[in-house]
Amino acid sequence: MFIQLLRLLLGKKLKRFEFKPFQKEKKSSLQQAGLYVHVPFCVRLCDFCPYFKIKFDPVLAEQYVNGLLKEIDWVKETYDISQVPSVYYGGGTPALISHRLGEINSKIRKQFPSVNSFAIELHPDNLTVKVMDDISEARFNMISVGIQSFDTQLLKNLGRNNPKSPEKKLNILSKYAFKTIDIDLIFGIPGQTPQLLADDFHRAVQAGATQISTYPFIDFSYANNAGKPMKKKRMKRLLESLIQAADQEGFERSSVWTFKKRGSEKYSSITRDFFIGMGPSGTTLTLENFYINTFSVPQYCQTVDKGKRPIAVQLDFTQRWRMLYWLFWSCYEMTISRVRFQEIFNQPLTGVFGRALKLADFLKFIETTNDGYRLTDKGAYYYHLAEQALTHTYIDKTWKNLYKTPWPKGFKI
Ligand SMILES: C[S@@+](CC[C@H](N)C(=O)[O-])C[C@H]1O[C@@H](n2cnc3c(N)ncnc32)[C@H](O)[C@@H]1O
Ligand code: SF4
Repeated sequence: MFIQLLRLLLGKKLKRFEFKPFQKEKKSSLQQAGLYVHVPFCVRLCDFCPYFKIKFDPVLAEQYVNGLLKEIDWVKETYDISQVPSVYYGGGTPALISHRLGEINSKIRKQFPSVNSFAIELHPDNLTVKVMDDISEARFNMISVGIQSFDTQLLKNLGRNNPKSPEKKLNILSKYAFKTIDIDLIFGIPGQTPQLLADDFHRAVQAGATQISTYPFIDFSYANNAGKPMKKKRMKRLLESLIQAADQEGFERSSVWTFKKRGSEKYSSITRDFFIGMGPSGTTLTLENFYINTFSVPQYCQTVDKGKRPIAVQLDFTQRWRMLYWLFWSCYEMTISRVRFQEIFNQPLTGVFGRALKLADFLKFIETTNDGYRLTDKGAYYYHLAEQALTHTYIDKTWKNLYKTPWPKGFKI
């Protein structure tokens, strides 16, 4: 479906992506780039989770932090970044190294003084005084808590362990001054009804969320899910119940799967035009390349120790593919900016994608705005389908290859 939709919109044959073993990272200047830090440790590994993580090992975690401090220096040497709007810690469970987050952030601030926001993903188990004090001392101002659902039975169906009263745990957040509190929910969990999902949304708002990220349950081929995601029609009803609940709460849709309180600042991980990823499995997007770090913690530590960058594979974009990549992620954000496209590619948006945009407009997927286009609800629904198909077709296969071996010989997807 995704491939067909893209073909329909772009009228081009889609070639396969070729990931090659890492050759060389080009020194480059970026006007603006986000930083991503991957912390690959968890206390328990959830069956449904596709992200790269291993069981927490305190000794390896210390080595990992020492390696990360070196990788930050390396990134500084390689990229001349004028503006770093945000640093995002994802995982895994970054709070497992909370005692060292202040040290890492100081290093980042020293190397990239323009950093504006520090964001971190938390498991609800992390909502303790010790961790929250560490986080606020390290000057994080945006947090995201992985609740998934407040319903105990649904959590069981998902294979997720949350603390018994997550709402009580979330109370602790009122003692700290975060500018954004995001709560992650998953929809399409076996047994979930539109009413249960709407209840989850309202409970997240009551618990203090300024943003709610809602992810359709995706069954990755290498995950260990007992229950399977729902069919398209039921998923559509769930998505509609989210849109309705958001409307009732005065939340606006800030991306295809995100709703935020009006006036609050948006929290997002890697939907930047450019980003540099650090840590095992961290990904980097420049104007010409996409790099993925090794999916092995010991190999990561050894490689950075030798003063080398721990990148496993790279993808070299043609300009057209890079433009498509930009267009795809702009659609996720629901806005396609003519000015931004011109700034990045030095070409007019309509000159490159004029035909596709006209067709999307005709199909009522987009509408015109002062600075380009905005996805309509219809367009957002088709994007929701396309993004899931992309995850199955490309992301699942890429990660599976990287999980198999720390340094793949290269592969096509
Ligand atoms: C790295 S994880 C969460 C961070 C933290 N370790 C936790 O478990 O709360 C980021 C988010 O991805 C979403 N997610 C993970 N696996 C998913 C899947 N198979 N389908 C849909 N969403 C998923 C969840 O909402 C999760 O909170
Ligand atoms: S969902 Fe969170 S806690 Fe569970 S395995 Fe994934 S990263 Fe770890």
